[in-house]
Amino acid sequence: MNAADLQDVLDALKPPAFFVGPGDRIAVSNASARALFGAALAGQNHVAVLRQPQLLDAIETVARGAEAARAPFTARDGDRETIWLASAAPLRLNGQRGVLVSLEDTTALQEAGQIRRDFVANVSHELRTPLTALIGFIETLRGAAKDDPVARDRFLGIMTREATRMNRLVQDLLSLSRVESEERLRPTGTLDLGALLRSVQSSLAPLLRESGVELTIEGCEALPVVPGDGDQLRQVFTNLIENAVKYGGRGKTIRVRGIVHEREPSMRGAAVQIDVADQGEGIDPIHIPRLTERFYRVDSHRSREMGGTGLGLAIVKHIVNRHRGRLRISSRPGEGSTFSVLLPQG
Ligand SMILES: Nc1ncnc2c1ncn2[C@@H]1O[C@H](COP(=O)(O)OP(=O)(O)O)[C@@H](O)[C@H]1O
Ligand SMILES: [Mg+2]
Repeated sequence: MNAADLQDVLDALKPPAFFVGPGDRIAVSNASARALFGAALAGQNHVAVLRQPQLLDAIETVARGAEAARAPFTARDGDRETIWLASAAPLRLNGQRGVLVSLEDTTALQEAGQIRRDFVANVSHELRTPLTALIGFIETLRGAAKDDPVARDRFLGIMTREATRMNRLVQDLLSLSRVESEERLRPTGTLDLGALLRSVQSSLAPLLRESGVELTIEGCEALPVVPGDGDQLRQVFTNLIENAVKYGGRGKTIRVRGIVHEREPSMRGAAVQIDVADQGEGIDPIHIPRLTERFYRVDSHRSREMGGTGLGLAIVKHIVNRHRGRLRISSRPGEGSTFSVLLPQG
């Protein structure tokens, strides 16, 4: 092969690739390689340009006769670190042996790994807290509080609460994993959102009564039917209304409102919007973009006190995505928050 042919081949490739020829010079490179290592790559000594020892070792290993070698390579793209996997292989150019290096962007893979590790750490932490409390109370009941019926009752009450919290967490985790695994499957049913909202209202009636909160539903009598999974959308509105009860405050009103859009630009067609608005203290705008992340809470202590798992809005977002809808959150600190679910009509 000659240099012009190799240039054509490398130019046809999207991933960064270059060829190290005699005298350790970079003889051929493509545009992606120049974007990664600098425009003046041609003719340079590869040691001076590449610098990272693992990559240099891989090239040297192949230059000395090995058939292949691999090495990680980290670069900067603005303030983001990108992680590459470089593969080196021998290639003859004009009869002389050199080393062809190509790089594969593994940043997304590494980030997914990091997200998974963070998730496992979060789950472990969330489970450990109630578990530690349970173990502590079991020990107290077997020892100091053994013959104290009053203390025993109180501790059993706390133990029930902690066990219930663990149960809720496990249920939310299962829901989340089910919803995530179905996210690419379009829902097959159709449903009447007005009827669904009234049914959510009646199943939450005891909670509303206990919390002294009123729930009003407007504009939902004659909504067009939408394609959707009834169980999942029930979960969406249950979660949003439960949050509005928890964070909206006693004696306040939650307004649920249905709006029909003949043309919703973000949905390229007709859509139904359901707003769940509370009169709570609202949410600082810096938190809003992160609320749907798993375990993200504005005030973790307060959320836990109220039995929250920090997974409710993550579940809501995945369900809305599956329905090809949108979740919009708006809030004025001091005046309340509105969570809007937009669902396409077809
Ligand atoms: N209606 C609301 N008003 C104020 N803050 C809210 C509201 N809904 C949710 N949040 C905030 O978003 C966080 C995440 O909500 P969610 O995922 O449902 O978790 P949880 O309710 O279990 O804490 C809550 O901890 C709370 O800080
Ligand atoms: Mg919640």
